[in-house]
Amino acid sequence: MGVRFEGYAGATSVRSAVALSGVEAESLVRTPCGLDEFDRVLGGGLVPGSAILIGGDPGIGKSTLLLQTAAALSIKRCVLYITGEESISQVSLRARRLGLKGEQILILAETELERILDAVQQHHPDFLVVDSIQTTYSGHLQSAPGSVAQVRESAQQLVRLAKQTQTTVFLVGHVTKEGALAGPRVLEHMVDTVLYFEGDSSSRFRVIRAFKNRFGAVNELGVFAMTETGLKEVKNPSAIFLSRGDVAAPGSTVMVMREGSRPMLVEVQALVDESHQANPRRVAVGMDSNRLAMLLAILHRHGGIPILGYDVFVNLVGGLRLNETAGDLAVVLAVVSSFKDKPIPHHWVVFGELGLNGEVRPVQNGEERLREAAKHGFTFALAPHKNITREGQQGLEVIPVKTLGEAIAIL
Ligand code: TYD
Ligand code: MG
Repeated sequence: MGVRFEGYAGATSVRSAVALSGVEAESLVRTPCGLDEFDRVLGGGLVPGSAILIGGDPGIGKSTLLLQTAAALSIKRCVLYITGEESISQVSLRARRLGLKGEQILILAETELERILDAVQQHHPDFLVVDSIQTTYSGHLQSAPGSVAQVRESAQQLVRLAKQTQTTVFLVGHVTKEGALAGPRVLEHMVDTVLYFEGDSSSRFRVIRAFKNRFGAVNELGVFAMTETGLKEVKNPSAIFLSRGDVAAPGSTVMVMREGSRPMLVEVQALVDESHQANPRRVAVGMDSNRLAMLLAILHRHGGIPILGYDVFVNLVGGLRLNETAGDLAVVLAVVSSFKDKPIPHHWVVFGELGLNGEVRPVQNGEERLREAAKHGFTFALAPHKNITREGQQGLEVIPVKTLGEAIAIL
């Protein structure tokens, strides 16, 4: 017999459960936001009633991106831009500098949540930008703006607003210096989509990554370049991450990395130098340092390279991050190339996972990676033998390798 819960507080209206198979799937209407690279990360455009969190370091370009997006959207739809960090004249100055036709954007400098909600009531925007969630505070809470309680409360109310009014809400969140998202991290579970803006502050390239997306694939990547006139899309990222000199230098390899749904050619650099310390340094920029330590151990044990007394530095060019094992072989060969002071020819591309026994293991989407390499004029590829199919690639000679030893021998 069932137990009856009496006097349950929120049960004012009774809803009955339905069979999932009987629910009509609504097809999502997605609005393109004017930048294809941004649409790609969003999963094909903006969904009404969704809440999107955009996180990133201060100064990386969040406000710039949202202002550009808001301007594009405002041509046909109503956009309300709440600025809590900059004054209206600062934003307007930036819009002018970006050459945006921003007349249609409604802008409001406000940080109090209740007044923001009032403004939404008044204007009924299709899109709302709140820049930033850390400056927004509710007058009903005691704690200071920017505190976890305030940030959480503001986000919660704005997400609820999105669902109730079918407004698409963008929340800007700053990552703090410690790397933990003092604001945004605590909000990840509340919103539908979490995007992170990444990039080297010294490089003009910026990457937006979908970290969570209820309406699309995660790990999808959008690539931009910051210019004097705002963010410009980079449609062919392989080309920029590969801008190398004409002469092949020791310690550099090119691999085919996969980011989201697309392959990308990226250069890995390694520097191996005699160590004068008891514990040689192992520095990995753009990849996991534990993975590097493991790869060096494999290299020592199965590649016969006495790497133990050497400092090893590995860097992924362009401020990218290697998140997959397919880069193993390229990293190790870059180290070997630096160790032996022998360059790997320019037109070579390498990918494959390394096992602890020194075996080269197949990776996902091998065929697609080879196609990308061929498309960019590479003529020689070292790839896991299990990834090689009969279908060849135009102009690309593929050498299958089974073990690390084999790969080093080919070098
Ligand atoms: P911004 O969008 O204000 O960063 P965030 O909102 O993430 O803090 O970006 C500011 C940086 O971008 C600033 O250092 C200047 C640079 N920038 C350009 O290089 N070109 C431009 O057209 C704009 C608007 C900004
Ligand atoms: Mg900003």
